[in-house]
Amino acid sequence: MKKKVISGFSKLSKLEKLRWVVENFFKDPENVVRELMSFWHKNEEQQRILDGFSENTISNFYLPYGVAPNFMINGKPYAIPMVTEESSVVAAVSKAAKFWMSRGGFKAKIISTIKVGQVHFCWKGSYKKLAAEFNQIKDLMRSDATPITANMESRGGGVQHIELVDMSHVEPDYYQIKVTFETCDSMGANFINSVLESFGHSLKAYVAESHSFVEEEKEVEVIMAILSNYTPECLVRAWVECKISELEGFGDFDEAGLAERFRKAVRIAHIDEHRATTHNKGIFNGIDAVVLATGNDFRAIEACGHTYAARDGRYRSLSYCEIEDGVFKFWLDLPIAVGTVGGLTKLHPIARKSLEMLGDPTAQELMMIIAATGLAQNFAALRSLITTGIQQGHMRMHLVNILNHLNATEIEIREAIAHFKDKAVSFNAVRDFLQYFRTEKQFL
Ligand code: MEV
Repeated sequence: MKKKVISGFSKLSKLEKLRWVVENFFKDPENVVRELMSFWHKNEEQQRILDGFSENTISNFYLPYGVAPNFMINGKPYAIPMVTEESSVVAAVSKAAKFWMSRGGFKAKIISTIKVGQVHFCWKGSYKKLAAEFNQIKDLMRSDATPITANMESRGGGVQHIELVDMSHVEPDYYQIKVTFETCDSMGANFINSVLESFGHSLKAYVAESHSFVEEEKEVEVIMAILSNYTPECLVRAWVECKISELEGFGDFDEAGLAERFRKAVRIAHIDEHRATTHNKGIFNGIDAVVLATGNDFRAIEACGHTYAARDGRYRSLSYCEIEDGVFKFWLDLPIAVGTVGGLTKLHPIARKSLEMLGDPTAQELMMIIAATGLAQNFAALRSLITTGIQQGHMRMHLVNILNHLNATEIEIREAIAHFKDKAVSFNAVRDFLQYFRTEKQFL
């Protein structure tokens, strides 16, 4: 009898968990156990580290680890590590990197590095009264949090600005303490959250003990204390530019025609949110792959990027294109809060290798590398879209996936790649080719 629910699952050993799952949810338990166990790391110590990143682990989920070489950013060459499951992403980025390498490469600069957190609380009293006490409250919050902030301060970071925000006009009795932080080379999530929780306690304690408040004002209800993943002031710009005459024409389009089509494609992503979403998704194809490869939090980066894309009330392209005095300019502004110390960055064995491959960058350098990769991906996607269309390159890259799905042998894969060099790839066309190839082979 299959049991689809269980209590105490987390207390089982890893093998017991695996067995319980496969016995209750799979048709062929023994084979599934064997298959999932085949993805366990051979080195027990490495496996222990991986298991430590999550809970209830029963195996490892593999993704390809690729590299985009020939990336010139601010005059420095990089090979960029990328983790992605999507065919053609790494190829597209590599192609764009090579294209721009001979045109001055990518440039990038940090605009700001400030992060944000909030204590959300309710209080039955007037804003004015709380505001009048706020300097003393701030002093208490800062001094109570010293054990948490001292280390970060010694590295040049810490709490920057603390502000009381009145939100009671939108929700009765609701206020915020909005705090800005500098977290140096760490992403700083744990630091920020610890400080905010401490600030919440100090606020409650101050108000409870202060003689400035009457009895019914003495209770602060902290709803939550948490960083904000929207960090519009942790901002980086990446750009490329060259004379229009240095852009390669393509087919019927000369350099000027191509530049103008490119500009229009970006413009469309500024005025239509359906296109903007896909356009930005392409940017994140590049960004997420580097964020993942370096052990950073891609959900945070994505969430922030999309909010930023809608910062004027309408969702728009994150990249921009301008043609001015015969010069083609293409750039991206994006908040990217990442770290190169702390979190998974040094714990994950491959993330550590990624950072080494990138020359052990500071968080600011990593922001620039990530932004340049996003811009490269966007450039490659748009260049394909406005010339050949995306499917040609995409399906060629997808060919091997289709062949693997159809259990093609090494020889069949080689033959199919040669066959489809100048032909449209589709699932049916590949299946027909394999059928033909397998029948023909019998007669050779
Ligand atoms: C596919 O993953 C990404 C693209 O759709 C991006 C774009 O359309 O700009 C090619």
